[in-house]
Amino acid sequence: MSSVESSSLEIHLDPVRDNYAVMGNPIAHSKSPFIHTSFAEQTNQSISYQAIHVPEGQFASAVQQFRELGGKGLNITVPYKQDAYRLCNSLTIRAQAAMAVNTLWFGDDGQISGDNTDGVGLLRDLLNNCIQVQGSKILIIGAGGAVRGILGPLFEQQPESILIANRTVNKAVDLASSIQANNISACGIDTLENKGNFDVIINGTSSGLKGELPPLPSSIISKDSCCYDMVYGDTETVFNQWCKGHGASKALDGLGMLVEQAAESFYIWRGVKPTSQQVINILRNDLKLN
Ligand code: ATR
Repeated sequence: MSSVESSSLEIHLDPVRDNYAVMGNPIAHSKSPFIHTSFAEQTNQSISYQAIHVPEGQFASAVQQFRELGGKGLNITVPYKQDAYRLCNSLTIRAQAAMAVNTLWFGDDGQISGDNTDGVGLLRDLLNNCIQVQGSKILIIGAGGAVRGILGPLFEQQPESILIANRTVNKAVDLASSIQANNISACGIDTLENKGNFDVIINGTSSGLKGELPPLPSSIISKDSCCYDMVYGDTETVFNQWCKGHGASKALDGLGMLVEQAAESFYIWRGVKPTSQQVINILRNDLKLN
């Protein structure tokens, strides 16, 4: 193993295989090492993939160390996606739109490239589960970094309309105006009551991570509404319980999106497309056993 050490960060790489990692804080419960190791086995790729806990203030030096040691690529998760965006010398169009990066790779010339695969991950999971975006009335709840990553890719699928509803209305307005289109609008969660119901309702808030639910009116749901919570847990999320309790036909969590965004990162790095469903099934069974 080769390594570079600093006061509180020590990175070791596998000397034989191509090295990848996910960096974040916290990172201990990340599923990414399992997902990418499964993809590598499935596609006969010789890679090593680890989770690296990066203390506050050390993100840029952690990336630099990983790269100098010969690392090939990184996934970036909370809270460093915006830092990763700022570190890149070149960005894909979807990363530029999201202003956040979850996938990095390094050129021989020292260039750092970045992409955001969250949106494509969500779209693939919606497609896998027969949830149609094209021509649909979409409600997105939340206006933080997670929603910024999915807005552009959802819009490209030509929905009838997208309404962004956020507790802090100004953030929803800013996000809606980042795509200048007359079928994208914004409101506060407290005015959702007047907006009718929606075909697809996506919860992009972080409230579920604390077991909380935004104060949503049941009028947003019809029996044909498909609901999607971008987070997941070992039990059904409070948002999905609420949606089903109010008659939604479908309520999915973000586990499929997690695996699909990873599959896109893997493809960027290795040029091979892995199959996601088997990995989703294993993770789902593990969650049930917890
Ligand atoms: P992330 O990167 O996960 O999106 P973020 O950028 O901090 O994190 O955004 C969190 C989002 O969840 C915001 O839209 C936030 O609403 P505010 O902008 O009003 O803060 C939303 N959120 C978090 N907890 C919430 C709660 N209990 N009820 C409603 N919205 C909540």
